[in-house]
Amino acid sequence: MIKDKDDVLILAIESSCDETSSAVVKNGRYVLSNVISSQIDLHKLYGGVVPEIASRKHVENIDAVIKESLKEANVTFDDIDAIAVTYGPGLVGALLVGLSEAKALAYALNKPLIGVHHIEGHISANYIENKDFEPPYVSLVVSGGHSHLVYVEDYGKYEIMGRTRDDAVGEAYDKVARVLGMGYPGGPKIDKIAKMGNPDAIQFPRVFLEEDSYDFSFSGLKSAVLNYINKEKMMGNTVVPEDVSASFQKAVVEVLVAKTIKASKEKGVSKVALAGGVASNTALREALSKACEENGLYFSVPSPVLCTDNAGMIGSAGYYEYIKGIRDGLDLNAIPSLKLGDRG
Ligand code: KG4
Ligand code: ZN
Repeated sequence: MIKDKDDVLILAIESSCDETSSAVVKNGRYVLSNVISSQIDLHKLYGGVVPEIASRKHVENIDAVIKESLKEANVTFDDIDAIAVTYGPGLVGALLVGLSEAKALAYALNKPLIGVHHIEGHISANYIENKDFEPPYVSLVVSGGHSHLVYVEDYGKYEIMGRTRDDAVGEAYDKVARVLGMGYPGGPKIDKIAKMGNPDAIQFPRVFLEEDSYDFSFSGLKSAVLNYINKEKMMGNTVVPEDVSASFQKAVVEVLVAKTIKASKEKGVSKVALAGGVASNTALREALSKACEENGLYFSVPSPVLCTDNAGMIGSAGYYEYIKGIRDGLDLNAIPSLKLGDRG
């Protein structure tokens, strides 16, 4: 790889949940490599992520994943300007594997260390996807562990407008999928079979909470779906998984889209960005894209591979911290419940 003197190359590491990933990112926008080693097949056997197994697998995989990311990018450690790593939120044992590795590399290679917030990474995937995309904008972040409506005023400057009060969106998808007898992770499976169902077959509740609130609540909807399934089974009726999935999904998407558009109007932004694992959902992508178009808003969404956990997005977020002069010490610790925007 030919590196110009102004180019900044970040080696990024992500291990907050069940993906071990390493990437080399140029100038925050160009992904030279993004190696993702997924443990899903292993956790599937238990119906969800088993933290102890996740940590152990990260330890086994991380060296090879980093090596591969350098090789694919055609660079050596000498070419790297800084090491960026997810330090929260996430599973503490899993986070510690990536963080320890990043610290060891930063120390041994004498390179700056930059801690990155996982959600900041998800949002930054939009900078990789759309090279001209810049703040200010409103971002809807929906993943397995988080649901946030965030006003991104500038790089690294976040205001959380709303968050889930109970289940995250992905969690609700996974739980409904489990009751329908589909394995983990259920989100992609519901997405798929919902396409064959009738979204108006069952009227599930739309939970908007208070008039002026941007918070979400999905546990009521999840319970409504479970009650419906149990009731139908008890009455000897056939439950049609396609219809349940499509109707559940419509209830989720309607609320997410309405709140995102309202938040964008309140902030007076002209752009909206979708992010997080659930951003892969076809119905959500389509509905938010359409609503943005109707409201004159530019809509950005990363390709599915950049929506799931990956180090490329961490390299992008890390770059914007790097150019601001943010550096972390070797005492940086993993923070499982790290808040977005703590750095200010
Ligand atoms: O962001 P992510 O990879 O991990 C976390 O940081 O949580 O998100 C994983 C979540 C899982 O709950 C998974 O079921 C959900 O994203 N998901 C989907 C889709 N693809 C992944 N949910 C709905 N539709 C999809 N296509
Ligand atoms: Zn994630």
